[in-house]
Parts: sequence; structure tokens; C-alpha cells
Amino acid sequence: MKNIQMKPTRENAQSLLLQHNQSESLIKHALSVEAVMRHFASLYNEDIEKWGIIGLIHDLDYEKYPAQHCKMTREILEKEKWPEEYIRSVVSHGWGMCSDVEPVHIMEKVLYTIDELTGLITASVLVRPSKSILDLEVNSVRKKWNLRNFAAGANREVIEKGASMMGKDLEYVVQETINGMKKVAGTIGLAG
Ligand SMILES: [Fe+2]
Ligand SMILES: [Fe+2]
Repeated sequence: MKNIQMKPTRENAQSLLLQHNQSESLIKHALSVEAVMRHFASLYNEDIEKWGIIGLIHDLDYEKYPAQHCKMTREILEKEKWPEEYIRSVVSHGWGMCSDVEPVHIMEKVLYTIDELTGLITASVLVRPSKSILDLEVNSVRKKWNLRNFAAGANREVIEKGASMMGKDLEYVVQETINGMKKVAGTIGLAG
């Protein structure tokens, strides 16, 4: 018999996130990814709530179980009776890193692409005198692309691969990721 599955709400996602995470930077990362997912969902005319929830919850296990990243998120969300569709999308962000679930749906491809990119953009903002994303241009981020020691954790190959899976050029993806993050600039501490 199939388990009766709930339809997760943003409140469900937020309360789980805060239950499992204390780190301010991880919470800001979750909120950044959420905002960008919502932004792309609106560009693609897709389900904004659902894309946002998946963005918000994607690194749920990372603070407590970094070595079992993605795997523990699956366990936690299964226990909470989240639908498999949500769980698979969340886990696919770690494709080739901590999971073997390949991003297939456009929502999954966007998550895979923008996860690392939000990190690179955040780092690019924090070295600016203004410390603000509000007037950040794509070019400032592109200049950091080949500086491998800058935000070394933000894997450029993953971002490039993701953009090509989305069928979009890098300029577009960087610009729209900035646009998504701008909407929550104050909340994520990038409003200057
Ligand atoms: Fe992750
Ligand atoms: Fe992440």
C-alpha cells in the first residue's frame, strides 16, 4: 500500500530547516537558493511555491551530517512523509558529488546550476566596497570566474555544466541568479 504523502508547505520546510540548522551562513544560503528558485520558476512559468520549498530545504542535512550530505536529507524527508518527487529533486542537486540522481526536470537542472553560483555571487558581493548586490553586474562575477582561489568552494565546472543542461548561456544564468537574490538582499545580508 502506498503511503499517504503530504504536500509540503513553506512553513514545513522552514521549520525543518531551523530544527536542523543553526549556522547563519547556511540559513542565508538556503534563503538565497529559495529566492533564486522562486525567480526561475516565475521565468519558466512553473510552480513558484514548490520550486522555492525545494530550494529552501536542499541542504537540510549539511550542518549535522556533512559526510552523509543528501543521504540524511532523504532519510529525514522520508520520515516526514515528503513526496518522492520533492525528495528526488532535492537530492539531485548533489549529482556526481553526493548523489547519483541526475537532474532531469528543469527544476532540478536549475537547482543544480544555481546552488554553487549563489555562493560565488555572495563572495563577489562581500569583497565589494558597497557590500551590496543591488548594483552588482554580471561582469563582476565573470571576472572572478578564473580566479580559482577566490570562493574556491564554488565549483565553476558544475555551474557551467548546469547552464548547458538548462540550455542557457552563462550570462543569462548569472544575471537571473543575481536578479533572484536581489529580491531578498536584506534578508541574506547583501543590501550593503
Ligand atoms: Fe548541497
Ligand atoms: Fe547548497
